[in-house]
Amino acid sequence: MTEEIGLFEAIYSQRALRHLKSEPIPDEIIKKIIDAGIRAPNGGNSQQWAFIVIKDEATKRIIDEHYSAVVRPNHGEAKTISERRAADSADYLGQHIMDVPVWILAATNHPGTDIHHGASIYPAVQNMLLAARALNVGSVLTTRVRRGFEDQIRSAIGLPEGWATAAMIPLGWPQDGYKYGPTTRRPAHEVTHWDKWGAQQES
Ligand SMILES: Cc1cc2nc3c(=O)[nH]c(=O)nc-3n(C[C@H](O)[C@H](O)[C@H](O)COP(=O)(O)O)c2cc1C
Repeated sequence: MTEEIGLFEAIYSQRALRHLKSEPIPDEIIKKIIDAGIRAPNGGNSQQWAFIVIKDEATKRIIDEHYSAVVRPNHGEAKTISERRAADSADYLGQHIMDVPVWILAATNHPGTDIHHGASIYPAVQNMLLAARALNVGSVLTTRVRRGFEDQIRSAIGLPEGWATAAMIPLGWPQDGYKYGPTTRRPAHEVTHWDKWGAQQES
């Protein structure tokens, strides 16, 4: 296990890592990442979440069969270099599903409006991404399962009716030449409004 890092260093450098080695991730690390997930805020603290650890070849094959066919929401519209890089990298992951040693499926049974439903599982997913970053395990949030092959995954793993898939995150050691680093984002001051919409500061 690698040395743990500070919270802000993890936040500033947690980015999508999709070029992953096929060598196994120890269960101890997988459990540690999920244990970070279950610390997250969730509606009413009802904790209607489940995390399915997928290592099984047969289930991976189902992901492999369907993943690339699910069209990206911004398919064909990648304009900036950063968007194009993300699209190419996402395509790479789609072509190497079987090489990923572990996929974690985050599922939720939280009732209520869409926002409570999603908002009760994605903080846990983000916690897991940060924990993975701290342990230098590569990962990325993916949602294609929900948009394209939820039924097939449901029957493969026995996910009960009423439980929805929210995200699948791959876990793997980063390939040589791929590492965590600064993210490309518009600066916070451009998206911050002080008391009134449009009242912005220069930095
Ligand atoms: C709702 C959502 C859905 C996403 N779906 C996918 C996906 O299906 N496949 C994928 O490779 N990345 C997916 N991503 C990851 C984004 O592409 C990534 O967060 C974004 O490009 C920023 O990348 P960076 O953190 O490396 O800068 C998704 C992210 C979010 C928030």
